[in-house]
Amino acid sequence: MVVRVFVAGGTGVLGQRLVPQLVARGHRVTATTTNAAKLGLLERMDAEGVVMDGLDPMSVGEAVAKAQPDAIVHQMTAISVAHAGKPDMKHMDRWFATTNRLRTEGTDHLLAAAEATGVTNFVAQSYAGWNGVRDGGRIKAEEQPLDPMTGTAARPSMAAIRHVEDSVNTAGGAVLRYGWFYGPGATDDLVAPVRRRRFPVVGGGTGYCSWVHLDDAASATILALEQKAQGVFNVVDDEPAPASEWLPHLAACAGAKPPMRAPAWLARLLVGQVAVTMMVEGRGFSNAKAKQELGWQLRYPSWRQGFKEELA
Ligand SMILES: NC(=O)c1ccc[n+]([C@@H]2O[C@H](COP(=O)([O-])OP(=O)(O)OC[C@H]3O[C@@H](n4cnc5c(N)ncnc54)[C@H](OP(=O)(O)O)[C@@H]3O)[C@@H](O)[C@H]2O)c1
Repeated sequence: MVVRVFVAGGTGVLGQRLVPQLVARGHRVTATTTNAAKLGLLERMDAEGVVMDGLDPMSVGEAVAKAQPDAIVHQMTAISVAHAGKPDMKHMDRWFATTNRLRTEGTDHLLAAAEATGVTNFVAQSYAGWNGVRDGGRIKAEEQPLDPMTGTAARPSMAAIRHVEDSVNTAGGAVLRYGWFYGPGATDDLVAPVRRRRFPVVGGGTGYCSWVHLDDAASATILALEQKAQGVFNVVDDEPAPASEWLPHLAACAGAKPPMRAPAWLARLLVGQVAVTMMVEGRGFSNAKAKQELGWQLRYPSWRQGFKEELA
């Protein structure tokens, strides 16, 4: 079964693992970038490259109409330094401003283009790192809500994620709640401050987080596409874990000294409430549904092994 797949955002850390996996499974891929200088990168992955601005409905409409895809994957974010400047958890609303637009307006433009071209197979990126609703257990399934992060700098991001999920669900597509990515290029901005001992364990480090390797995120995405899956799936590894466990392990795998400890009040002043919530109260996620319904098998079932292989 060869499918013509349109990957909106084919040059990001996930796109660069997803496109080759799609091609290897025999799919024909059109993939987008905003930057003509990256068309060569897409061509080297054996995709047809196209320049598209996900915030411009004409640009999106034309690119999709020309590609005539059977399926569309929405992987557009603007989190990299090139698009958003230096990571800034304290002012996440500013850092994520364009990403939030890509998750609201960008989703609407892609869904409109899908409807205009008769595409019903639609898969979009959502997030399930640490943002499960902060009551009850530490591990959340898909039917449990995400944390709206009311009153914090993450509120606009959570509202944008809610928009992706609601609109893609309404259109009969699949929403993949990816855990915190690691793998080639994905954690460079995290490892740098960890190496400088500028990324402490906050409070007791009791907040849970879910990780996923990019190659596993890509394979789950392809299963969702090939099966025309509908609804929400957590795409996370087998081992949600507290910051007190994953952060020292990440530091050790990256050859850094153990992370410092910081009290919550100090971290709140320095890096803001969102980082404190993540590290003290975060909730992780279960992957049982993706395994059972998509038949997803992970190459990296735990970040414990994955960090060792990727960060050494
Ligand atoms: N679940 C997670 O943990 C998660 C999810 C996403 C990202 N991240 C992290 O965020 C960092 C940056 O991610 P990234 O490398 O994927 O880069 P990114 O800057 O977020 O870009 C992702 C993709 O979106 C495209 N894009 C950006 N603006 C666009 C626009 N206006 N219209 C259409 N497409 C647009 C980019 O294309 P061009 O740049 O080629 O123009 C690229 O293909 C990494 O550290 C990554 O690990 C984490």
